[in-house]
Amino acid sequence: VTEQPPSTDLITLSRHVLHDQLRLGAAATGDLTLLLIAIQVTSKFIATNVRKARLINLVGLAGETNVQGEEQKKLDVLSNDIMVNALRASGKTAVLVSEELDNAIIIEEPNRGKYCVVFDPLDGSSNIDAGVNIGTIFGIYAVRPDSKGTIEDVLRPGNEMVAAGYTMYGSSANLVLSTGSGVNGYTLDAALGEFILTHPDIKIPPRGKIYSFNEGNSMYFYPPVVNYLNSIKYPKTGSPYSARYIGSMVADVHRTMLYGGIFGYPDDKKSKSGKLRLLYEAFPMAFLTEQAGGIATTGTKRILDIVPTSIHERCSVFLGSREDVQDLMKFYESKN
Ligand code: AHG
Ligand code: MN
Ligand code: MN
Ligand code: MN
Repeated sequence: VTEQPPSTDLITLSRHVLHDQLRLGAAATGDLTLLLIAIQVTSKFIATNVRKARLINLVGLAGETNVQGEEQKKLDVLSNDIMVNALRASGKTAVLVSEELDNAIIIEEPNRGKYCVVFDPLDGSSNIDAGVNIGTIFGIYAVRPDSKGTIEDVLRPGNEMVAAGYTMYGSSANLVLSTGSGVNGYTLDAALGEFILTHPDIKIPPRGKIYSFNEGNSMYFYPPVVNYLNSIKYPKTGSPYSARYIGSMVADVHRTMLYGGIFGYPDDKKSKSGKLRLLYEAFPMAFLTEQAGGIATTGTKRILDIVPTSIHERCSVFLGSREDVQDLMKFYESKN
């Protein structure tokens, strides 16, 4: 075996998005590039805090409840503050929506820019104290022409997003990003402090063999979901699917992106609209899934086509390998 020397030509995230911008020519002003660079800095900042959390008393509850009725963890609040400060200071944003804030933040002059960012600062809160993978999710809209930035600029379907991504804080920090022409994954080289392109042009396998649902909710699930799950657990031919459920959407979706299969958090008899939030969980993940060749659906309609009516609304989510999600949708079509 001949060993290859390490590369001396690293593609950093900044280099990669800048290259993308140059490809677009004069039409691209570079504002989105600068915004993405600001976002990657927040991911590095959050990643270092996640790593040290146990040592610097950053585990446990912050003492407040968010608008969704969830008790906020210290890291939820810290990550939110890191993102709000950096996004405001970037000078590139007009409207910010965060899971942890009741209302949208409208950015005033002189900091106002032309992008809106919707984000889940820390996804997978219930996993923090056990050191299990957590993440950050974000989606970006351009403000509508002639708008100075209002809530209407984010109450738009996900198919109007110009970019979306997530960072998973795991054994390494992985940032996965799409600006609408495919999906790329970057891994944080902690020594360099740079995200390096490690997963160019991610494509979800057309079929997987893993399903990822919180089956503890089975007694509330509607028949199409129960019957679909039975069909992959007791197949007429071949072997049953494997179950993998972390309980951090970022980690469950990341694995689905790389290995294929299906992730689901359906609406059910108890959670009438499901649990995941449309703007900053479902839309960005649906955007990435489609860009990677997969499908993201509520069971009956394309997630990216939903028109939001409020910033914290929820929706049913199934996403992943094209053929697996199509199998599930057939159970909805036949209403059993
Ligand atoms: P968050 O921690 O940002 O509030 O999101 C939690 C979400 C998501 O990460 C995950 O897919 C889901 O909640 C897990 O819910 P259950 O614990 O009900 O399975
Ligand atoms: Mn939460
Ligand atoms: Mn979340
Ligand atoms: Mn969260």
